[in-house]
Amino acid sequence: MSSTPARFDSPVNADPVKLSAVAAKARVVKTLPEFSMSNKVCLVTGAARGLGNEFCRAFIQSGCTDLAILDLKEEEAVEAAEELVKAACVDSPMEPEDYRVIGIGCDVSSELSVQQAFRRVMDTYGRIDSVVASAGIVENYSAFDYPFDRIKRLYDINVHGAFFTAREAARNMIPQGGGSVVLVASMSANIVNIPQPQTPYNAAKAAVKHMAASLAVEWAKKGVRVNCLSPGYMLTKLTKTILAHDTELKKTWESLTPMGRMGDPEDLAGAIVFLASDASRFMTGSEIRVDGGYCII
Ligand SMILES: NC(=O)c1ccc[n+]([C@@H]2O[C@H](COP(=O)([O-])OP(=O)(O)OC[C@H]3O[C@@H](n4cnc5c(N)ncnc54)[C@H](O)[C@@H]3O)[C@@H](O)[C@H]2O)c1
Repeated sequence: MSSTPARFDSPVNADPVKLSAVAAKARVVKTLPEFSMSNKVCLVTGAARGLGNEFCRAFIQSGCTDLAILDLKEEEAVEAAEELVKAACVDSPMEPEDYRVIGIGCDVSSELSVQQAFRRVMDTYGRIDSVVASAGIVENYSAFDYPFDRIKRLYDINVHGAFFTAREAARNMIPQGGGSVVLVASMSANIVNIPQPQTPYNAAKAAVKHMAASLAVEWAKKGVRVNCLSPGYMLTKLTKTILAHDTELKKTWESLTPMGRMGDPEDLAGAIVFLASDASRFMTGSEIRVDGGYCII
């Protein structure tokens, strides 16, 4: 007895012409509306390059037109903003003037700098809906060799920078009814990377993960959700700098990753849009790991 539902064609028996017409129609319906980033004002720190830049691309591809790119050097942030708009208009009915993408110089380790950047964003757009704290650094020193001033700098950027960004986001989001904050942690919040030593980085990312959970509880009833995204080894300038000194290391990292490869920044696009959009509206204080399975073995 066949139990195939009447409304679906079995791929074996279906008319190929009809099937491709259906596939063409299906392509028009892109995704659940909750994943749309249109009408959302977004801000991403550390977004002139790397994962932060990829998050911006994912937001634009999901319909965002109002976006602030924050990075250490204003000229690099502005250049990244211009490139993003240019790329968004290729093979698209959208025109550059349809976008309001701005680049702002901001050192996330300075609370004043973060406050000034958020003020500029509020002055430009009047609201802010989705914020991603992606700015971060990594260094590899063994514990005995790590100069203390460098440890402090790493915590200033990776931990305090995330806190300043989240706090400023919430200060602006609460009066408008809420928003979504995503802190970029790392699989290093959960495991100890080998063979390279990086104790302060790992501890900093564990702090960021618990910071997201703690802030989530503080702001849950005020409409501000705080989650964290924890990537595994991704190919960006951050990791390329480490790999430049050690060509064997990439093979080691790949062999430790069940999926057998490093991630491309685009591999995080779905997760960041999910967390930043209304698709994750009942989710706060959570972590999404996107690590090719690294943490499960
Ligand atoms: N690449 C990976 O494998 C990986 C894995 C897990 C987590 N992460 C995390 O993802 C985040 C982004 O990493 P990435 O790979 O894109 O790094 P990246 O070095 O490619 O980019 C980081 C960006 O942050 C900016 N930045 C650095 N210090 C800053 C500061 N004080 N203020 C503002 N901007 C600053 C840099 O200028 C750069 O544009 C970091 O928090 C990192 O720890 C990366």
